[in-house]
Amino acid sequence: MPVVGVLLWATLLTLGWRAAHAKDHGFATPRVQLSFKELKATGTAHFFNFLLNSSDYRILLKDEDHDRMYVGSKDYVLSLDLHDINREPLIIHWPASQQRIEECILSGKNSNGECGNFIRLIQPWNRTHLYVCGTGAYNPICAFVNRGRKAQGFPPSQPGGRESRSTDSPLSPRPAQSKDYIFYLEPDKLESGKGKCSYDPKVDTVSALINEELYAGVYIDFMGTDAAIFRTMGKQTAMRTDQYNSRWLNDPAFVRAQLIPDSSERNDDKLYFFFREKSADAPLSPGVYSRIGRICLNDDGGHCCLVNKWSTFLKARLVCSVPGPDGIETHFDELQDVFIQQTQDTKNPIIYAVFSASGSVFKGSAVCVYSMADIRMVFNGPFAHKEGPNYQWMPYTGKMPYPRPGTCPGGTFTPSMKSTKDYPDEVINFMRAHPLMYHAVYPTHRQPLVVRTNVNYRFTTVAVDQVDAADGRYEVLFLGTDRGTVQKVIVLPRDDMETEELMLEEIEVFKVPAPIKTMTISSKRQQLYVSSAVGVTHLALHRCDVYGEACADCCLARDPYCAWDGNACTRYSASSKRYGGPGESGREGPPRPQAPPLTARLPTGGAGGKTSGMATPSASAEATTPTLTRTQWRPCSTGWRAAPPSWSASPARPRPASSGCCRRTTATGGKSCGWKAGCCGRSRACCCAPSSLPTAASTPAPPPRTTSSTR
Ligand SMILES: *[C@@H]1O[C@H](CO)[C@@H](O)[C@H](O)[C@H]1NC(C)=O
Ligand SMILES: *[C@@H]1O[C@H](CO)[C@@H](O)[C@H](O)[C@H]1NC(C)=O
Repeated sequence: MPVVGVLLWATLLTLGWRAAHAKDHGFATPRVQLSFKELKATGTAHFFNFLLNSSDYRILLKDEDHDRMYVGSKDYVLSLDLHDINREPLIIHWPASQQRIEECILSGKNSNGECGNFIRLIQPWNRTHLYVCGTGAYNPICAFVNRGRKAQGFPPSQPGGRESRSTDSPLSPRPAQSKDYIFYLEPDKLESGKGKCSYDPKVDTVSALINEELYAGVYIDFMGTDAAIFRTMGKQTAMRTDQYNSRWLNDPAFVRAQLIPDSSERNDDKLYFFFREKSADAPLSPGVYSRIGRICLNDDGGHCCLVNKWSTFLKARLVCSVPGPDGIETHFDELQDVFIQQTQDTKNPIIYAVFSASGSVFKGSAVCVYSMADIRMVFNGPFAHKEGPNYQWMPYTGKMPYPRPGTCPGGTFTPSMKSTKDYPDEVINFMRAHPLMYHAVYPTHRQPLVVRTNVNYRFTTVAVDQVDAADGRYEVLFLGTDRGTVQKVIVLPRDDMETEELMLEEIEVFKVPAPIKTMTISSKRQQLYVSSAVGVTHLALHRCDVYGEACADCCLARDPYCAWDGNACTRYSASSKRYGGPGESGREGPPRPQAPPLTARLPTGGAGGKTSGMATPSASAEATTPTLTRTQWRPCSTGWRAAPPSWSASPARPRPASSGCCRRTTATGGKSCGWKAGCCGRSRACCCAPSSLPTAASTPAPPPRTTSSTR
């Protein structure tokens, strides 16, 4: 193809991608969108570009202590540098044996290359080793991987020649110099992966390794009909869910497993499983339900019945829906991904979940947020009960056995019963028949945080970062899509008790678009790691300069990572003094009160939605430029736009109309806006604000009601 042809073709591709956006919801238009090429041009992303004959990059395990990211793909386990995944990667090639591949093909598989060793589990085992499992060409296998620094006094790597480095890479003609890091598979410690990893690479395996015991949500048979939550390894007896009992698990797709303590008493510790499953009540109900299930870590099973089966397994429905104008709820039934945001209190993390709408009727997805308080309330509530196949689900109102089913032995409520084997038979029998809670878990504020409908993509993954901006703390959502992009979104409370979503960026993270499969975030390194069938990319959480070269561009982007430093739009850092210059001394005033986390700031019924007041002017320079919160930066009148709805960072990008920063509204009761005095100058405090805000040193009195003027 001649060069012109290639260029034209590339342009058409780009245009096509752009055009796809036009159908988006108005409110879901990104401030900035970047193609993969534009992203690379910003220098803020790295795509893993070693030419391995691999695919299906699915497992990402971050190891911040060792500065490594472990990646599992087809036939490979990788150890990458967290700072730059292309710097001296360590590579273990771990294919299934030739004999096994032939057996796999003989058994009728391999239509889509299923007879590979798809790595599906990488867990930290001890200080020196990882535990890894792969599908092993439909015969799951597990192994230990030695990893760590040689300086710690471990023997040198190379046993059995198992370790191979990326000698086939265009980036590294010689084997990578890894003098100080070990990474190899222990060849004599191969184990069966049955009950630890599914056979079918299309089926996700979820796992948690706790005290050298492996808990896994898997399909444990070749046919893929026997799904279970399994416990293996360790000293306790192997355990599983009741076999072929569709009340417990009905064709589940596991999404995540997470240990969440219930109290300071370790005997109360529970492992939560997030999954979706086929509804037993179809066609009267949606075909799929999303679930949160849990088990006690110290469950020993029953002693009369449910021997070696969980005797504390309970599950509840996770609802994510939007009420419609006609009172009919639109449900997003298919759980896709879960992000657990840890808080100061380990018992109460915040749970972010991404759902998509099931069925082909409409394509939509939503993000819902759940609190542990709501989840525990449902598990402490009534059990779902059905008299027979043709009856409705009812709350169970009969006599409740003691201890209450689902209670952990030796915990706060049952200190005298040390094992579930001590539980009366009636508890175990009740458990077996009533694993489901009657009430569903609803999201915080009973509505999604983010909704997408009438768009031609779905969310597949979520990761959340907490950012300390000039005006308080923000939660930034990174949402992966099935078209290979990541959207960076913040949700702000509005005066009218509604929320306002801002999509700051939408970025293509792979050269060839492929659905985002896994995401993990490192706040410490300010990086997001993203994987898909085609590869792994990591990108910085912020690229402030793409918003534009003027203060107004920077401010109006409202990206909490960014602020105007007097010359450019740059990463805001509360502690940093590197932008210090005349007029900056005010930054050293007393610490600013932090806005509470977003989820706490969302309006609740009855309470005023707007909670963030103006910062108190303190010292000299500060007083002349009160910092406005990002809620206040928003336009005064609806429909107002400071800049074109979106623009790309390409050189041909139209300059945003900064001069249109604020304008007067003529609507009744309309406020007007003005440029802040001193704004867009040296101060990081930003520019566009209701003109009734004090412009000079003043007391933090409520803003006076003035008839305003436009500047
Ligand atoms: C890559 O893998 C495929 C199947 O997994 C195989 O057919 C092909 O020969 C491999 N290519 C190389 C260069 O090893
Ligand atoms: C970690 O586990 C591996 C595999 O069981 C074992 O060989 C190794 O000695 C252990 N290392 C430490 C430090 O306990």
